[in-house]
Amino acid sequence: MAEPTHLTEIRASYDTVAESYAGLVGPAFENDLLGRSTMAAFAELVLAGGDRPVLDAGCGPGHVTAHLHTLGLDAFGVELSPVMVGVARRTHPGLRFDVGTMTALDLPDGGLGGVVAWYSTVHTPTEELPVAFREFHRVLAPGGHVLLGFHVGDEKRRKDQGYGHPMSLDLYLRPPELIAELATAAGLVLDATLLRDLQGPGAPQACLLLHRPGG
Ligand SMILES: C[S@@+](CC[C@H](N)C(=O)[O-])C[C@H]1O[C@@H](n2cnc3c(N)ncnc32)[C@H](O)[C@@H]1O
Repeated sequence: MAEPTHLTEIRASYDTVAESYAGLVGPAFENDLLGRSTMAAFAELVLAGGDRPVLDAGCGPGHVTAHLHTLGLDAFGVELSPVMVGVARRTHPGLRFDVGTMTALDLPDGGLGGVVAWYSTVHTPTEELPVAFREFHRVLAPGGHVLLGFHVGDEKRRKDQGYGHPMSLDLYLRPPELIAELATAAGLVLDATLLRDLQGPGAPQACLLLHRPGG
């Protein structure tokens, strides 16, 4: 079966920008204290349930995976762009990074303590999000946790450049209520919603914490 167009576009775009993305977004993440605090809360929730591995889905150059590792989590990354995976492996040689898609994870059922998707679902068409959320539910152990970070709004933007390079892909801004509804329909339970960056020129952002029931 032919690959969906959006996956081809995401891979090509992030292959192109991988090096410059790592140089810009990695250091910026150092200053994202609210994002890092949310990950600290996520880590505490995961560790309270045991020491199962944690997936960083759409990990890009791996700085979030590495940060999760410093929080005591056995974190590994899965990423669509092979060039991004190359950057991640080079930058964080002690960590595991695999090429793959969050919509068809090459992982067994029920083995993970947590899944993070930090601004990595923002290029996935809304009708495809349930596929990713069902995958997150499938690979999580009962009681496992999910952390989603994404742009808030209600529009699709065409992105034709970024990080100093041409890109060609869609960027979705979505209401947190819609993301919560789709994740809940996939079997996850919503624990908390954080709305942030409500002032200023950019789009607001949201973090959702959810869990797979049971356990
Ligand atoms: C905006 S970047 C975020 C990267 C990283 N999570 C971060 O916080 O910097 C989006 C990333 O998600 C990846 N991505 C998008 N869709 C994906 C999918 N279906 N499976 C795996 N990775 C995906 C892209 O290749 C890209 O590296």
